[in-house]
Amino acid sequence: MPLNKLYTKKQRDIIKASREKDWFMMINHGAVRAGKTVLDNDLFLFELKRAKKNAEEDGVMTPMYILGSTSAGTLQTNIIREIEDKYAQDIKFDRYGNFTFWGVYVVTTFTGSIAGLKSIRGMTAYGAYINEATLANKEVFDEIVKRCSGLGARIILDTNPDHPNHWLKVDYIDKADGEKIVANHFTIFDNDFLNKRYVDNLIAVTPSGVFTERGIYGRWTSGEGAVYTDFDEKKHYITKEQLPTNLTYFCGVDWGYEHWGSIVVMGEAPDGKVYLVEEHAAQHEEIDYWVNVARGITERYGQRIPFYADSARPEHVARFARERFKTHNAKKSVLSGIEEVAKLFKMGSLFILEENVTKFKDEIYQYVWNKKTGEPVKENDDVLDAVRYAVYTHKHGKPTIKLFKHGL
Ligand SMILES: Nc1ncnc2c1ncn2[C@@H]1O[C@H](COP(=O)(O)OP(=O)(O)O)[C@@H](O)[C@H]1O
Ligand SMILES: [Mg+2]
Repeated sequence: MPLNKLYTKKQRDIIKASREKDWFMMINHGAVRAGKTVLDNDLFLFELKRAKKNAEEDGVMTPMYILGSTSAGTLQTNIIREIEDKYAQDIKFDRYGNFTFWGVYVVTTFTGSIAGLKSIRGMTAYGAYINEATLANKEVFDEIVKRCSGLGARIILDTNPDHPNHWLKVDYIDKADGEKIVANHFTIFDNDFLNKRYVDNLIAVTPSGVFTERGIYGRWTSGEGAVYTDFDEKKHYITKEQLPTNLTYFCGVDWGYEHWGSIVVMGEAPDGKVYLVEEHAAQHEEIDYWVNVARGITERYGQRIPFYADSARPEHVARFARERFKTHNAKKSVLSGIEEVAKLFKMGSLFILEENVTKFKDEIYQYVWNKKTGEPVKENDDVLDAVRYAVYTHKHGKPTIKLFKHGL
């Protein structure tokens, strides 16, 4: 099969260049769905062959190679399943969660937490492949680099961009010299396997600002100015007459005392459009106040309406559960949650019942990025946090809590 049927131009150029130089680290970074992981999975297999040869020169018969991914789930979906399908191979894990491929013992490690250190400490590796490197714990990452001391060992990594001060950007990408460290930047347009319609759709639903910069163009930018840049009063505020009646209701809860507390009621229509129908926000109120608010909500919307609550106050979550409100810990991943809400604004799929909100009107304009941390400034965010918990948890499933089992 001709190479241009197997690879994008970008992938071909990188494979060619990778054979011409004796690099130590290759960082393939940039937009989502740009072809980074497909490329790296193949480079990984080429590298296993190289590692085997290099080790033989060292007199080592079964060399070790490190395969790092954020979690067991991403290892399986991004790497193992892809390689098994593409090469019709059956990868059999041993009882340590490692496997042998082409005579190389591949040691897997989960880089997402410091526990990843355990599986690789002290070993001599003939190379490493790290998927989604910005999500790696820095200590685990450094240890992997240190372990790559076998003859000719190399490290391949791929990642989506993060904020510009991320250690991977500052310590490695900014220091790429094209010799020892090679950094290849991808945009979505580098993937010519994606059809134009798909790319156009992706652009249409990607929130403006930092999410477009990173997701589409693969740039290491931090957010600036307002977080929800696609919010538009004219499009997103509606009146009671415009509110559909066939909604599935759910709530978001952000506990607060000094900072305001907030409970929002949201509804989702069968077409996927989401409506903010009630905002409750108050300062200096005790938990009994919020129980009353929730009771009012269950009286209006039924006892089964779920409350997706900030887990930072477990005693309040427990109290809600004791009151027989259907309470769940919210999924709190900040950037992913914001992206979900921002996407709804961008697509024109999130509406606010204007007469029922007050604080929202203020927060939506005051909620801004902190350039240093890459996250929003933690002020003027109480109602918006409740909205984010509601939307993100409703969409991506609720983490289970075992309150009742523990007799709380
Ligand atoms: N060489 C290739 N051959 C066939 N399809 C490809 C190739 N490279 C990328 N793709 C397609 O593009 C999708 C995204 O590629 P992937 O490498 O997962 O992107 P990234 O890791 O940059 O997010 C893949 O799921 C696949 O459908
Ligand atoms: Mg990828």
